[in-house]
Amino acid sequence: MRFDIVTVFPRLIDAGLSEGVVHRGVEQGLVTVRVHDLRDYTADRHRTVDDTPYGGGPGMVMKVEPFARAVDALTAEGGAPKAVVLLSPQGATFTQAHARRLAALGHVALLCGRYEGFDERVREVVATEELSIGDYVLSGGELAALVVVDAVSRWVPGVVGDGASVEGDSFSRGLLDFPHYTRPMDYDGHQVPAVLLSGHHADVARWRKREALARTVARRPDLLREATLDEDERAWLAEWGWPGGKQIREARS
Ligand code: ADE
Repeated sequence: MRFDIVTVFPRLIDAGLSEGVVHRGVEQGLVTVRVHDLRDYTADRHRTVDDTPYGGGPGMVMKVEPFARAVDALTAEGGAPKAVVLLSPQGATFTQAHARRLAALGHVALLCGRYEGFDERVREVVATEELSIGDYVLSGGELAALVVVDAVSRWVPGVVGDGASVEGDSFSRGLLDFPHYTRPMDYDGHQVPAVLLSGHHADVARWRKREALARTVARRPDLLREATLDEDERAWLAEWGWPGGKQIREARS
């Protein structure tokens, strides 16, 4: 998996990748992250990446040419990326499905902005898609790019130690995760559920499946619209009288 990241703060990206799972993936040669300083693609003595907005108003706007030149240069150096992603709060909300799709592409460029925003032609001419990591405004796209690199890299075979754990991750099936416990068995009167100590693998699996569903219903019922539910899960929803349960049951039977 190759990432090309274009930014005015290359060290912010380097710092974010200096430890952890993605760092290990880089060390193992499974992930390549190239960081490109946007100012290296400016044409003036002051290395200008932004300018005042046409039509007036506060703040500065990121210019289109440095981004266009940067993408041309990284393409010449390492081949054309399969996606050129602009990070901005105006993008589609980044999900686990995006992460999986981008990982399958194998080569992705990420464009980070600062200031008030991008010249619209960065969207029209340079980027192929636009992603947001959530409904809040960051001071720049770098932290968002790091989030994308992390979530995408987890789908690269070998990056996460146990491959099964990515497939089973919260959201990979469209549901929240089940509760986890480790020692001690009793913490200040708070007990580990007995089924987890029973040694019955089938009972444990069923309990986890039910807990994951219950948690999703309680906290993120919106996820159920897109989730792939099996027969047990549809039956539990109906049992709980969850309004969508019966409909989902009928739609799929
Ligand atoms: N840049 C600023 N805010 C952002 C966000 N929420 N997602 C992605 N990029 C951003």
